[in-house]
Amino acid sequence: MNRLYLIGTGPGGLEHLSPAARTALESCTDLAGHGLYLNLLGELTEGKIRHKTPMGEEIGRATLALDLAASGRTTALISSGDVGIYGMATLVFELLARKPKPEWAEVEIEVIPGISAMQAAAARVGAPLAHDFCVISLSDLLTPWELIAKRIGLAGQGDFAIAFYNAVSNKRSWQLLQAREILLRYRAPETPVIVAFNVTRKGEQLTVTTLGELDPEPLNMLSLVIVGNSETRQAGKWVYTPRGYHTKPELTGT
Ligand SMILES: C[S@@+](CC[C@H](N)C(=O)[O-])C[C@H]1O[C@@H](n2cnc3c(N)ncnc32)[C@H](O)[C@@H]1O
Repeated sequence: MNRLYLIGTGPGGLEHLSPAARTALESCTDLAGHGLYLNLLGELTEGKIRHKTPMGEEIGRATLALDLAASGRTTALISSGDVGIYGMATLVFELLARKPKPEWAEVEIEVIPGISAMQAAAARVGAPLAHDFCVISLSDLLTPWELIAKRIGLAGQGDFAIAFYNAVSNKRSWQLLQAREILLRYRAPETPVIVAFNVTRKGEQLTVTTLGELDPEPLNMLSLVIVGNSETRQAGKWVYTPRGYHTKPELTGT
């Protein structure tokens, strides 16, 4: 059978790679992915053909993975974190739907989830995503800024905690500043904010700051930002968002 695995390899550290992902990787002859993510897999890539493609060449990478699988090579297309969250999985399904090649019909696809970067970042500081939350990418490469800004405003209005992916890149940081301005219409400047850089990878850094003091300057494309909701608080070294247990007599003592 011609098989293509779409694998989320987790935030970076191999201790966060799922056993299902590990087993699938072991069965592959070919791996396709951005060089950084293939490198993070270390010795798990040994003996396999590594097809490294740069950022911005996602369509070519997904096409290559489908072609390899169709030719009989057991192939994994790799994304960091979860492959379905700003990852490669959707592009494969879009290619299959819009530009199918007859040989792709023979490819058996399996999607293997991974721990997303926001989960790893949240776990490092406590439980900031414990109540309703949403995830917004600040990259306007594929989504118009007007739509992103609208979603930020609605998330602010709805009091969702928010994980911002692609918060800044080498070329842009104004989006994070605008996101902060929009959220300050709905949320106090003291709202806890977590800035997470290279979570579970070499050079990991996590900082807890506030919405009022959030500064895009030290961030880069390997960082994400979690903004708490109106209830999120810091207690010692932990940041958490309550789920309503504080109304229960066991917690209030009444
Ligand atoms: C294209 S998205 C990929 C998201 C990935 N599929 C996931 O579920 O984590 C890339 C963005 O994810 C975030 N990211 C991914 N891994 C990260 C990590 N280890 N530490 C901090 N942020 C990370 C950054 O915001 C980065 O710009």
